[in-house]
Amino acid sequence: MTEKRRQEYGPIYKETIGNNQIVAVSTSEDAEKVLRAEGKYPNRNPIAPLVEYRKKRNLSMGVVLSKDEEWKKFRSVMDKKMMRPHEVTCYSDRINDVSNDLIQRLKRCRGNDGVIPDIEKEINKYTTESIATVLFEKRLGMFKEPIEPKTEQFYQSITKILEATNAILTIPPFIFKYIFTKHWKELNKWSDIAGEFADDIIEEKRKQIEKKIASNDDITRSNDRVDFLTYVIATGKLSRREANVAMMELLFGGVDTAATTILWTLYNLGKNPHVQDKLRSEVRSVMEDCKEPDTSLIEKMPYLRSCVKETLRLQPIVFALPRIIDSDLVLSGYKVPAKTFVMIASYVMGRDESVFPNPSQYMPERWLRGSDRQGYNSDSRFQYLPFGFGPRMCIGKRVAEMEIHTLLSKVSFFILDLFS
Ligand code: HEM
Repeated sequence: MTEKRRQEYGPIYKETIGNNQIVAVSTSEDAEKVLRAEGKYPNRNPIAPLVEYRKKRNLSMGVVLSKDEEWKKFRSVMDKKMMRPHEVTCYSDRINDVSNDLIQRLKRCRGNDGVIPDIEKEINKYTTESIATVLFEKRLGMFKEPIEPKTEQFYQSITKILEATNAILTIPPFIFKYIFTKHWKELNKWSDIAGEFADDIIEEKRKQIEKKIASNDDITRSNDRVDFLTYVIATGKLSRREANVAMMELLFGGVDTAATTILWTLYNLGKNPHVQDKLRSEVRSVMEDCKEPDTSLIEKMPYLRSCVKETLRLQPIVFALPRIIDSDLVLSGYKVPAKTFVMIASYVMGRDESVFPNPSQYMPERWLRGSDRQGYNSDSRFQYLPFGFGPRMCIGKRVAEMEIHTLLSKVSFFILDLFS
């Protein structure tokens, strides 16, 4: 839709969607102005159905829905273990373990024709299990056969909540107080189920940690190695209510996003055998001696990283970056007043022909460095923003990349020909 609008109206237009008046921009110059002007607390428009649900259940707004100082409090605790490269490196062993389980499972469940019956489900299980090990150092058992009913239900709830939220996103929230629509009821039902499941894990872990603290065991001694939840509790900066919601948000934010990116990359590789061959030869040469890629090994695979970047250009998870601007700005020659809801149309920008020649062609070479680069005519870092920008950018970027690169390198090494 944003692509059609850009063709019709040009690089800036105003539109009313539901309750919101939105200004959409799609040039790197405008994106830069919006993002460079954001203050200490960049704010987005609230996701109304989720805000209503949390108010109703007296839950914290967490990192995703809160704003200003409250939001900063969450990020200042969470960023340390999620955003710093050397902290994230220590999750590599756990993610490698989960990826090995998935590879075994894929080998087991593929048919004689090489087809894997429900690849989408398998990849979603991988990202669910991976993010859970990062957050709680706990395996959920997603590859057990059969999966425990409670775990299966939790896994289902992720899709159900996303679907229900999307269906009622533009409905003015006061309506939910009077009319219980089907999707609002679904959102409540599945959010309760998911919340209970996550709360149980968090409380079990919390008891273990409190026991350690009571026995004077210094849980922060090996701070680098502790799992994310232990670290959050040890800082004591978030209340129990806040920490539970923050964990839940990461668990949720971490499943569909990374899984969809892996699936689109497999699709793109399947459609482009020459890219597949090039990727396989890079991966095979780097992983000859070690089949458990950590960040330093992934560093040696620029083509692998470029394949993922190219997927996020063509099939970005977030099609537009929302911001409520803090001050008046001039965008594409128009004065846009402070407090306006501006959308940076990342999907459209990733397909801009003047920047990416043959924009619909899957071409990882666009992201290589130096003379190997082809098919990308911009020096602006604001042309391509798959994880957002600034202090409010995606908190899970590094973990997501680790999950995606680890799995794709192994699939390329062991079974890539399955996807052709
Ligand atoms: C390929 C995978 C992913 C993509 C493309 C992606 C993309 C994004 C984008 C574009 C934003 C908005 C950034 C902004 O407004 O500047 C965002 C926010 C967020 N993401 Fe991700 N994400 C991914 C994976 C993850 C994972 C694995 C997690 C959890 C570990 C996660 C948790 C979050 C959270 C909590 C926020 C809100 C941050 C805040 O409001 O301060 N994401 N993501």
